[in-house]
Amino acid sequence: MSRLPVSLLVALLVPAVCPAGEEPTPAERGKKALTGTAFIPGFWTDRAVQTVWRQWEGVTEKPADYAAAFRDRYGLHEAPYPNGGLTMGLRPARYGLLGTGIGADCMLCHGGSVLGTSYIGLGNSTLDIHALFEELARADGIGRKLPFTFSNVRGTNEADGFGVYLLGFRNPDLSLKGEWKNLGLRDDTCADVPAWWLMKKKRTMYYTGATDARSVRSLMQFMMHPLNGPKEFHAAEPAFRDVLEYLVSLDPPKYPFPVDRPKAAKGETVFKDTCARCHGTYGEKWTYPNKVISLDEIGTDPNRHRAVGVAYGAEYASSWFAKEKTGWFVDGKLLRWTPGYQAPPLDGIWATAPYLHNGSVPTLYGVLNSKARPKLFTRSFKTGEKDYDQERVGWKITGLTGPPDPKLPAIERRKVYDTSQSGRSNAGHTYGDDLGDEDRGAVIEYLKTL
Ligand code: HEC
Ligand code: HEC
Repeated sequence: MSRLPVSLLVALLVPAVCPAGEEPTPAERGKKALTGTAFIPGFWTDRAVQTVWRQWEGVTEKPADYAAAFRDRYGLHEAPYPNGGLTMGLRPARYGLLGTGIGADCMLCHGGSVLGTSYIGLGNSTLDIHALFEELARADGIGRKLPFTFSNVRGTNEADGFGVYLLGFRNPDLSLKGEWKNLGLRDDTCADVPAWWLMKKKRTMYYTGATDARSVRSLMQFMMHPLNGPKEFHAAEPAFRDVLEYLVSLDPPKYPFPVDRPKAAKGETVFKDTCARCHGTYGEKWTYPNKVISLDEIGTDPNRHRAVGVAYGAEYASSWFAKEKTGWFVDGKLLRWTPGYQAPPLDGIWATAPYLHNGSVPTLYGVLNSKARPKLFTRSFKTGEKDYDQERVGWKITGLTGPPDPKLPAIERRKVYDTSQSGRSNAGHTYGDDLGDEDRGAVIEYLKTL
């Protein structure tokens, strides 16, 4: 025994104590944190979740498959990971002083479904977050109106408004301050949720490209619940470092239907001539120029650009969020002002309809033919095969001739996308307009392969 060389002893012993390869990677730890931690206290009691059907107009008894009815009502999806029987986006969390209740997590908005399959990191394009918060509060007996509009149109939300609203309650060290400061809150940006798998290519993030895409603390804005103070932010930072590693490890799902390869090859040539200067090239040796295009040039709806303005930027830049050492910005800043919107990478673009930052264009065909974009429409807000438009690539819609009846409940009216409303313009991005139908079809075929 004593003759055994030390190295062999180590080789024999170490694997038993600490099995090689089983140490979780930072990305694996990040996934675990993301899908298993309540970073904010709960908003509602369990009872509210169980009895909220009483708030649903015309429903007189609890639906038989209640979990499915709940998901349908609010546009939520089954979790593709163990979630204690709760729908993706909800999780148990401490509530009140001692109890537990139900809270929300990142996947409420960043967990979506396409062709009936749920994915972490696909934006949730069916969510009515306004109805969810309003009706669950009512089920808890809290009649107060929400402080601002959380969603104007189903599938979009006012996440930028959340950031602006919540930072208004904080001192630079993130302790609460006595009085709310209006940092330019607006609630008409109608943001579609970007896919997380694009983060790996991006050097700057958010629609305007204003923030360093390797900033960890920016992701923690979601934690600004009034019961979270500086202590909670500091404690959660290592977990968020792992969460970011997880986000940049994600890959898009593959287009599951047949692709016409020769047509796609032709489309690639057209894409390289017409689109690559902004959207980059794909395949193993991909390139991504990370370009921001000015509002004047891109011509898409300006509200999102205006929603996060100078007052907010100044407050943010002086806060704990902006005091981290990281980054790709040469001047050492985590935040910058940009003149417009960032041209995103198009990986997995087939799965992320509707398109443009405000979700105003339901299909890729519409993105590439501005004159053919529908102006007033609704859709099923389901994500199955029959809801998916394989020809135009995106969601099937039903065109409407007039605005919704004002007598309809708000949850029904929010199912209508009216591009004449503030924040919902479908104008701009006319780069595909001059392609003939054949080239346009070829480009769409190519986009399916990304
Ligand atoms: C209420 C819905 C909502 C919740 C909850 C939410 N997000 Fe987001 N997220 C958005 C929207 C909308 C955007 C696009 C913002 C913009 O630029 O206008 C976004 C953008 C992002 C981006 C930038 C993506 C890019 O490519 O530019 C990251 C990263 C991100 N969110 C991470 C998170 C994390 C992590 C959480 C949880 C801690 C979270 N989000 C919670 C709605 C949400
Ligand atoms: C001058 C730069 C530029 C050119 C050229 C360009 N785009 Fe874009 N593209 C953008 C910008 C910027 C956006 C984001 C606009 C917004 O959301 O308001 C965008 C958005 C898109 C989107 C929607 C992305 C999403 O997730 O919603 C698609 C699809 C797209 N472009 C495809 C193309 C194709 C295909 C071409 C070539 C025919 C092309 N683009 C040419 C700058 C460009």
